[in-house]
Amino acid sequence: MTAGMVIIGAGECGTRAAFALREEGYDGSITLVGSEPHLPYERPPLSKEAMTSGEAPSIKAIADAARLAEHRIDLKGSTTVISIDRANRSVRLGDGSDLAYDKLLVATGSIPRKLPMSGLGARCVYLRTFDDALLIRQYLREDVRIAIVGGGFIGFELAASARKLGAEVTVVEAQPRILMRGVPEEIAAIVHETHVTEGVEIVCGDGIAAIEDDGNLVRIALSSGRTVVADLAIIGIGAVPVTALAETAGLALNNGISVDARLRTSDPHIFAAGDCCSFPLAVYGHRRVRLEAWRSAQEHGALAARNMLGAEEAHASVPWFWSDQYGLTLQIAGLPDEGERTVRRDLGDGAFILFHLKGDGRLVAASGIGPDNTVARDIRLAEMLIARSARPDLTALASTAVKLKSLLAA
Ligand code: NAI
Repeated sequence: MTAGMVIIGAGECGTRAAFALREEGYDGSITLVGSEPHLPYERPPLSKEAMTSGEAPSIKAIADAARLAEHRIDLKGSTTVISIDRANRSVRLGDGSDLAYDKLLVATGSIPRKLPMSGLGARCVYLRTFDDALLIRQYLREDVRIAIVGGGFIGFELAASARKLGAEVTVVEAQPRILMRGVPEEIAAIVHETHVTEGVEIVCGDGIAAIEDDGNLVRIALSSGRTVVADLAIIGIGAVPVTALAETAGLALNNGISVDARLRTSDPHIFAAGDCCSFPLAVYGHRRVRLEAWRSAQEHGALAARNMLGAEEAHASVPWFWSDQYGLTLQIAGLPDEGERTVRRDLGDGAFILFHLKGDGRLVAASGIGPDNTVARDIRLAEMLIARSARPDLTALASTAVKLKSLLAA
């Protein structure tokens, strides 16, 4: 009898991998180990609709118990893997028991980067898990002051949710502008303006000199000399990959767990996928990247599953992510920092797309923003052009009279 497949991490990536193993015809045992007590759930709603709909957030499960049972996936919740024994191909669980594997997938994800200073207390919180969301939700109402440290995605999605529920919001971002990680300036400027119009105060280019949290109030002293006083401080200053298990097991690391294009670690029986790993991205000449995005976690989970079963398939997709704030949706396909020049296409209603191109005309990314889903279709088509390394005509890209679909045909 074979040992079966073990997956560490029951988030989007690990759960997708478990289902993909079964969908690919694997008949052996599949164990999905997760440290949280809940059924596997979707994280994107935690900063958005789960926060604003109803009195308290509700879980959007990826799969319920019946579906897990139907696929014969053994979910071990509230369970921590404490070590990996590579020689014996087994993992040790928190209760001291061992679980043998044929192939192991590490899908441990990422956790919030901690603000490296003393003074943080019970009123200084991070958002990653459903339980974090439950706690934060209690504070999102009128007459409550929320300070958000970090003008990134967590910060602004939560700022929009907090404003919707009537709280006062101040965002403090250390960089000279918001969303510097991966979002072009013209798009970030729209996000900034929209938040200001909705009543959010945004402070950029200011550091946190000190924090004092007496359990009732948080006082954030900024480097500029100003003090922001809040009932709750939410810290969203980035994510760090969870690599301790892999590191102790001696797996190669490089900005997360280092994997090849097939998501295999330096041990051929161990794969890693999702936020916890860096991998060579084929579409950009195998530039090594670590992606922190929902769709990428899903794609990685499915790809790792196929390769655990011997497919030898290389990662080939284009990164994509989205963010919803108020009625606006922002979408980015590819990595805009790969671009050397930009062409803008206006779609009406304030919506626009920026196409990011190399000097030789190759399309490498597209970023767009607009009400509701206005940019979705063109971003999807741009993604297909990027995957094909297309060099589209620049005038055609800028003109809404030319349908992007026709460029695909060309
Ligand atoms: P982030 O990397 O998007 O933004 C962090 C921000 O904090 C940056 O703008 C950075 O300059 C700033 N910062 C860093 N240190 C600071 C300091 N000491 N004081 C003030 N500002 C500081 O990370 P974020 O927002 O924490 O999100 C965490 C993870 O969750 C990321 O992987 C993010 O992509 C993901 N996420 C994705 C969403 C989406 O795709 N729609 C939504 C929410 C979160």
